[in-house]
Amino acid sequence: MRVLVTGGAGFLGSHLVDSLLQRGDEVVVLDDLSRGNEEQLPSGIKLIKGDCRDLESWEKACENPPDLIHHLAAINGTRLFHEIADVVVDVNVNGIKNAISIAKKYGVRLVFYSSPEAFGEQENMPLSNKSNSLFPPANLHQRHSYGASKYLGEIMVQHAVRNGLDARIVRPYNVYGPRLHGGKNGQVVAMMIQDALQNKVVEIHGDGTQTRSLTWVEDVVKGMLLVGDIPNLAGQSFNLGSTVETQINVLAELVCKFTGAEKKYVDANHGDSKRRVPDVTGNQIIGWQATTSLESGLRNLIDGA
Ligand SMILES: NC(=O)c1ccc[n+]([C@@H]2O[C@H](COP(=O)([O-])OP(=O)(O)OC[C@H]3O[C@@H](n4cnc5c(N)ncnc54)[C@H](O)[C@@H]3O)[C@@H](O)[C@H]2O)c1
Repeated sequence: MRVLVTGGAGFLGSHLVDSLLQRGDEVVVLDDLSRGNEEQLPSGIKLIKGDCRDLESWEKACENPPDLIHHLAAINGTRLFHEIADVVVDVNVNGIKNAISIAKKYGVRLVFYSSPEAFGEQENMPLSNKSNSLFPPANLHQRHSYGASKYLGEIMVQHAVRNGLDARIVRPYNVYGPRLHGGKNGQVVAMMIQDALQNKVVEIHGDGTQTRSLTWVEDVVKGMLLVGDIPNLAGQSFNLGSTVETQINVLAELVCKFTGAEKKYVDANHGDSKRRVPDVTGNQIIGWQATTSLESGLRNLIDGA
């Protein structure tokens, strides 16, 4: 099978590319390398360095049209949602708009990567395919540039499905594993581990009672492959997340335990959701569930750092 992975040089995309290549697929990656890294791509794939807002880049990537598109290219990273909210909306909305137009043109199955943030500040858990999206007034802060862009992406995908496109939606839940971005624009697990190893301090935003469903990358990639491969799933959405709800305090304690670092409480992030837990009943059709425990995932990551 020929597969186009946009955002394939990023964290999740590069793990997907590894698995596709291992099973013998032909892989093309479209990535502007703004956050992705060419070095995390295996040899044997074709890289088109281009912007997903630009249809010409898509056409180059589809010189030999693929059988399947995994569209992961997006601006990700909590601080960026505030700092460059305009670019986040532009890339994430126009990226999926182009993905749909190319998938229609070449008659290709499309998997769109949305996010639990598409539900905004919905407090009723678990988040299911029937949950409402809830966003606060935009003048308070612009954190939801990301979540709202993913919500609009889902709207566009569902509209295209009604018009005959075979498209599916994946919502990954706080995925962690090797290559996850740390630093000031990174994700919580990698930021904590990096801080713990470099500075012997783990920062907790707010009081640390907020929860997340931390999900090991290899588990998630198995689900991504299933969503792309199984027939007759048009219009279905899959919450690929662990059902174990972990307080950020507990995550910090584990990282401290494994590294000998100390905890430190700092300001909360605007619009940070209090809880984020997936309803995974819809995953029965693909026979997927997360199986790796947080302890074993973290040990793996810290030992390999
Ligand atoms: N990692 C998670 O836990 C998680 C959770 C929910 C949703 N997602 C979604 O999964 C996808 C992948 O996330 P990730 O964690 O690997 O993020 P990432 O930032 O590591 O990967 C995104 C990739 O997209 C590329 N990119 C950004 N702007 C681009 C543009 N204009 N044109 C082409 N490429 C561009 C980046 O260079 C990067 O390689 C994203 O759509 C993200 O919203 C991820």
